[in-house]
Amino acid sequence: MFARVTTVAFEGIEARAVDVQIQIGPGLPAFTIVGLPDKAVAESRERVRDALNAIGLALPPKRITVNLAPADLPKEGSHYDLPIALGLMAATGAIARDAIEGFCVLGELSLDGSIATVAGVLPAAIGANALGKGLICPSSCGAEAAWAAADMTILAPQDLLQLINHFKGLQTLRRPVPTPDAGDEAMPDLRDIKGQETAKRVLEVAAAGGHNLLMIGPPGAGKSMLARRLPSILPPLEPAEMLEVSMIRSLAADLAGGRIGRTRPFRTPHGGAGRRRHPAPSGRSGARPSRRAVPRRAA
Ligand SMILES: Nc1ncnc2c1ncn2[C@@H]1O[C@H](COP(=O)(O)OP(=O)(O)OP(=O)(O)O)[C@@H](O)[C@H]1O
Ligand SMILES: [Mg+2]
Repeated sequence: MFARVTTVAFEGIEARAVDVQIQIGPGLPAFTIVGLPDKAVAESRERVRDALNAIGLALPPKRITVNLAPADLPKEGSHYDLPIALGLMAATGAIARDAIEGFCVLGELSLDGSIATVAGVLPAAIGANALGKGLICPSSCGAEAAWAAADMTILAPQDLLQLINHFKGLQTLRRPVPTPDAGDEAMPDLRDIKGQETAKRVLEVAAAGGHNLLMIGPPGAGKSMLARRLPSILPPLEPAEMLEVSMIRSLAADLAGGRIGRTRPFRTPHGGAGRRRHPAPSGRSGARPSRRAVPRRAA
């Protein structure tokens, strides 16, 4: 008994197609996942088994092998639960094998069979659309997926039972609708700043010309305060930029309710982010840091 389901793996904001192959064959009962799964993917065995049990489907006491191809691409995240579960259902004949053929699938399963939110649904939907496939995703991510294309098929079930009923024709899942964009979020305005005329002028020039800015000044001089107000004088995002920004927010699970905004993003990474704690002495990479961090003063 063999079945295959398409899902995705993320490389940056790109979604790469992953083929979930499921083989149920004779042998001692076992359930193995191969194809560079990380811990979350390896643990999906338990979630899939219990979710299927919850809807009254038991796994056959046979040798089950799940292969995530391409085998050399690392698979991270919890969104492999749903494709594995659907593949198992297709392999055991619980759903028709061709029902899931035209879909790219992602979703995390709860033990009761409900489908939980996952990150990266928007890039996955764009990737699926490029492959000419529809998308099956958690119901909470449906609105986000609907932004990818107006004409692609999107199924956003709340649980496994809804999906099976849809495939059997007992219930029809409606295509989710994209939530209207969030509009202009309240953001700090450049006009709040008193004084600092030169700095404000520089900000305006940089915004108009699309230049980079380097701010140097003592603590409390107002660098962060000025930088935070730069988006307020930048033009709203173009549709293509909006999608690109939203894909990053989708992967960071920061796209609440699938609301896509047109304001330019502003991030304040911590000053220490990316700084190495113990820089290795040159020529001795990997050596233990010296105990004497501060050079002894000359007597
Ligand atoms: N021209 C100004 N008008 C009004 N408030 C100001 C002005 N300059 C600084 N402040 C106040 O000082 C606070 C600290 O400024 P800010 O955090 O931007 O400093 P900074 O230059 O980023 O400092 P650091 O180098 O420590 O990050 C601001 O939040 C603001 O309340
Ligand atoms: Mg600052």
